[in-house]
Amino acid sequence: AEAELIDIVEDKSLPAASKTKLLSIQDKIGQRIAVSGWVHRLRLQKGLAFITLRDGSGFLQCVLSGDMVKARQTQELTLESTILVKGVLNKLPDGKSAPGGVELKADYYEVIGLAPSGEDAFTNKVQEGADPSLLLDLRHLALRGETLSAVMKVRSSFLAAIRNFYIKEHIREVTPPCMVQSQVEGGSTLFKMDYYGQEAFLTQSSQLYLETCLPSLGDVYCIQESFRAEKSHTRRHLSEYTHIEAELAFIDFDDLLSHIERLIVSVVTYVLEDPVSGPLIQQLNPGFNIPKTPFMRMKYVDALKWLNEHGIKNEEGQEFKFGDDIAEAAERKMVDTIDHPILLTHFPVEIKSFYMQKDPEDLRVTESVDLLMPNVGEVTGGSMRIKDYDELMAAIKREGLDADSYAFLTDQRKYGTSPHGGYGLGTERILAWFCDRFTVRDCSLYPRFTGRCKP
Ligand code: 4AD
Repeated sequence: AEAELIDIVEDKSLPAASKTKLLSIQDKIGQRIAVSGWVHRLRLQKGLAFITLRDGSGFLQCVLSGDMVKARQTQELTLESTILVKGVLNKLPDGKSAPGGVELKADYYEVIGLAPSGEDAFTNKVQEGADPSLLLDLRHLALRGETLSAVMKVRSSFLAAIRNFYIKEHIREVTPPCMVQSQVEGGSTLFKMDYYGQEAFLTQSSQLYLETCLPSLGDVYCIQESFRAEKSHTRRHLSEYTHIEAELAFIDFDDLLSHIERLIVSVVTYVLEDPVSGPLIQQLNPGFNIPKTPFMRMKYVDALKWLNEHGIKNEEGQEFKFGDDIAEAAERKMVDTIDHPILLTHFPVEIKSFYMQKDPEDLRVTESVDLLMPNVGEVTGGSMRIKDYDELMAAIKREGLDADSYAFLTDQRKYGTSPHGGYGLGTERILAWFCDRFTVRDCSLYPRFTGRCKP
């Protein structure tokens, strides 16, 4: 009953509080500040209330004392409620720990939105370790958790790192369409749609469009969603993923490999040096470091040799032979054992895409590359592209595609061809490697895969 009597009133004689995001509290030590956010943690102890406040940019421990603790507002406060707190920010004494080594001594606070208690309380909805499919139904709430939100922050920093790299390399960003009438990576994974009565698809890759930009814009890249109707239900396949693709003119295969290597090192360096994502990566993946260069370069035929020497079998349970696909499990066993990035090159023509340039020294294989990372396997796929008009036409026909629909691509060879190549990088796969996640689903905001298209 006593609790109900006390109201929390602001003392107007105090110095004005400056509105502060938790990201920048370190600049405000000793000052009276006003912070708003969600109640991330809450503990009542010995006449004090400790609130860990979260605003997405950071965390801050706020301490309430005296009447403020007894007030009904505090006694009824729940996790995930939103509050506005004012008070003086102090450095913590030695021996005590809280986020950022600081603490807000609250002199006033108000509730903005009270979250439910009891049956409907946040903690009854989202618990770490709960059934993954339940957590995916409640993805909008699960994203508030420390691990998922850390991955999303690293993701944001990673995309900034990518753009930073391309700016440094003078590669221009373009935004190709998502709704298309051409295929790049085979008909079996196309999402079909009705486009004003015509058949169209959601894009699998923007590569062909990037190729058409070379004559007008020079080297280009895009960060675009790609869509794959993957039948397989694996830890590294999504139905929609953020595809980073680039296309580079007048390069040779070796230029392509060293460009990919440079990209990875530059991006990892940026993300590790970033004051927000650096510590988060160390938390998610302790000891993670910039991979040593040069990366191992291994030809497909040598990978087969390695796999056979290590007793790893092909899909039929037999020794690997030329022409076999190196499936996900075998690929991962190899890269996990070698425990270092591998640029796996020169795959056979038959198991690769129609547009890939053949190796002039061995026409059975293509100038193609997959970048493999420990724990994830393939994170990037790229190649040199066929530059000869007739050869590309023949490849298009062999693939059973309608040549007219690909005139936009063949014209690129007809009106001044160039040697060129490029690659596609799966954002969620790179993140699974950075953040040591078991599945790429953890690295997508709202993952889409077989059977899941909501919320
Ligand atoms: O190897 P992929 O299929 O290559 C292409 O699409 C080329 N056209 C890219 C290019 O050269 N411009 O896909 C490239 C990368 C893969 O290495 C992988 O990281 C990612 O895209 N990826 C997927 N990520 C999540 N879910 C899926 N279903 C993916 N399929 C490919």
